Amino acid sequence: MRAEHLPALRIAPSILSADFSRLGEEVERVIASGADVVHLDIMDNHYVPNLTFGPMVCKAIRRRTAAPFDVHLMVKPVDALIPIFADAGADIISFHPEASEHIDRSLALIREKGCRAGLVLNPATPLHVLDHVMSRLDLILLMSVNPGFGGQAFIPETLNKARAVRARIDAHVAAGGQPIWLEIDGGVKLDNIAEIAAAGIDTFVAGSAIFGAPDEDGYYRRVVGALRRELDSTQAHRRAA
Ligand code: DX5
Ligand code: ZN
Repeated sequence: MRAEHLPALRIAPSILSADFSRLGEEVERVIASGADVVHLDIMDNHYVPNLTFGPMVCKAIRRRTAAPFDVHLMVKPVDALIPIFADAGADIISFHPEASEHIDRSLALIREKGCRAGLVLNPATPLHVLDHVMSRLDLILLMSVNPGFGGQAFIPETLNKARAVRARIDAHVAAGGQPIWLEIDGGVKLDNIAEIAAAGIDTFVAGSAIFGAPDEDGYYRRVVGALRRELDSTQAHRRAA
């Protein structure tokens, strides 16, 4: 997939907060501004109380950038949409365990379509859903807000969860397992991203923090650059430790 040249810490703008009247341009601009991954929030007004966009929009904006598409399914049921989003250009597809009758099967379906597979944990979802599927996962996405809307406040307890999942992933890799991205979604801002990175997150969804103002005078480049500098300082801190 298109994720091979990415940095160790990745910024994934959520286009949920972008200007939907010119989505293609927004995607192009935010990637040209230094972001790594495009995060697409798919909501169905059933699993979550909001409705966004489907595979046709995904396919339409796919040709505007070579950056990986990280498709976050907030839909129930899940399985029928997996091949459709894979064909629409998704590189990563993640879903919520509560929305699938057969989690292991849904994960397998994603990989069969050549995509990377992710499981999304809501703030109150316990970690034991990971117990028997670690080898099936390429990504674990921790929700730091309740899913459904952009612009909500970060739930601090997610930091404890991040540290716990980081320990699980490190143990899995140390035992010979495949690498797994650890992503966070919700309320990520300039003033908390370093603390979140210190808890072991490597992929950072940011919606309103990036798209909160129009891209005038290089605004996206300044915001993405500032987020990146915060992450660089964490990495420097880690190396020094
Ligand atoms: C919420 C979505 C998020 C959302 C994040 O259900 O999954 O991706 O867009 O938005 P911010 O960064 O504004 O909290
Ligand atoms: Zn999301």
